[in-house]
Amino acid sequence: MTLRLIEGGKGGIDTPGLLVHGAAQVATLAGGLRRGTSQADVALLDSGDVGGPGTAAAPVIACWEGRILGVGPRDRIEQGLELGGYPLSRFARLDAGGGVVTPGLVDPHTHLLFAGSREQELVLRQRGAGYLDILAAGGGILSTVAATREATAELLARHGRRWLDEMLTHGVTTIEAKSGYGQDLTTELRLLEVAWQLGREGPIDVVPTYLAAHAVPPEFRARPDGTEAYVRSVIDEQLPGVAAQGRAASCDVFCEDGVFTQDQSRRILMSAAGYGMAIRLHADELAPSGGAELAAELGALSADHLHTPSAEGVAALARAATGERPTVATLLPMTSWFLMTGDAAPARRFIDAGVPVALGTDFNPGTSPTPNLPLVMTAACLEMGLSPAEALVGVTINAAHAAGVGDQVGSIEAGKQADLAIWRAASVDELPYWVAADLVQVVVKAGRIVYRRGG
Ligand code: NIG
Ligand code: FE
Repeated sequence: MTLRLIEGGKGGIDTPGLLVHGAAQVATLAGGLRRGTSQADVALLDSGDVGGPGTAAAPVIACWEGRILGVGPRDRIEQGLELGGYPLSRFARLDAGGGVVTPGLVDPHTHLLFAGSREQELVLRQRGAGYLDILAAGGGILSTVAATREATAELLARHGRRWLDEMLTHGVTTIEAKSGYGQDLTTELRLLEVAWQLGREGPIDVVPTYLAAHAVPPEFRARPDGTEAYVRSVIDEQLPGVAAQGRAASCDVFCEDGVFTQDQSRRILMSAAGYGMAIRLHADELAPSGGAELAAELGALSADHLHTPSAEGVAALARAATGERPTVATLLPMTSWFLMTGDAAPARRFIDAGVPVALGTDFNPGTSPTPNLPLVMTAACLEMGLSPAEALVGVTINAAHAAGVGDQVGSIEAGKQADLAIWRAASVDELPYWVAADLVQVVVKAGRIVYRRGG
């Protein structure tokens, strides 16, 4: 897909060019999707190796009309610009102030749009209620479905803007956003339209996903064949409508024992693929349910959660990782923390098996009410044993591939969209280290400054 270039932004700069200099480190993440040992390779340019951020050989980033022109030593880049017909006078200069520059972060798994909140469920779970028990009793996802069906597009958009603003302050410039709190065609179309409109509005790019099967809605639950009838209505009625609307880039299913089976998920996802949608799954979140296996079988863009994959599921994703269409394992450590599972997805097993790993917030009202992607990096380090570098790969280049926009964003490389985060830190290892510390100083989206801390 082609991401739009943003025409203006909050406090944009009026030259076609932008030159970012004065960085202690630039983590370019250049070189494509990472797996195995390369999960730890952030493709770092370190001014410490050349005498400091003020020297002629220190790394700079040149952007032109929203795209990256080049990144590298200042003297070489500036000479190349002049020779290449890009006069330096047409570049605004942005001083990174001895901080770290990374690509703008990509959140590859959010449920951005919903109405209401579910703080009472936290208390129920603290008293011992299970997540699926609450759902079976008509609460959980179903209570958010009820509230969301009542919500107007304006209300949903207002809610979406509020949380997108928060994400921006955490350095996020692209997100995937699922529908899934409608579970009827009218509401799903409304959610997808609002998600798409919010992306157009900017500055954060939004990649909409149709979450077709999230929970069996009340009007089907009373029927003995309710789940099956709902699956048929997704395939026969919702999917054609969603495809005709044309907003959803991909289709997602909650493939989980007690929710939608592997076979039901397969039928929905194959039908979605027939409409040209990419495929992603909520896989093996609560129990091994064949989700990882199905993701590999169908060539899914991403298999998400993977808290409890089977050994065969890990092996299937490892085999897929060696082929043409690797499925990214998108892990969501704040979800297991918030569900108080006491453990985390086996991230090291995936990395050791050569499966590319991405990290997302899973922002939603039931299992992960946080918009803070840097905090997810911290949780991945503490709960899953990722190194800071592996976590940074997980929220940049690998996340971009999981979201289906790896050719556009997720790294600082010539030709890519000029999306940058400048951090008040001297090294990339500090990013997850200062827990929930709001280190982001400046965010650049498509070559424009769209956020500056304190102004
Ligand atoms: O990713 N597991 C399914 N969906 C969400 C939770 C949705 C909710 O509880 O509202 C998740 O965890
Ligand atoms: Fe989710």
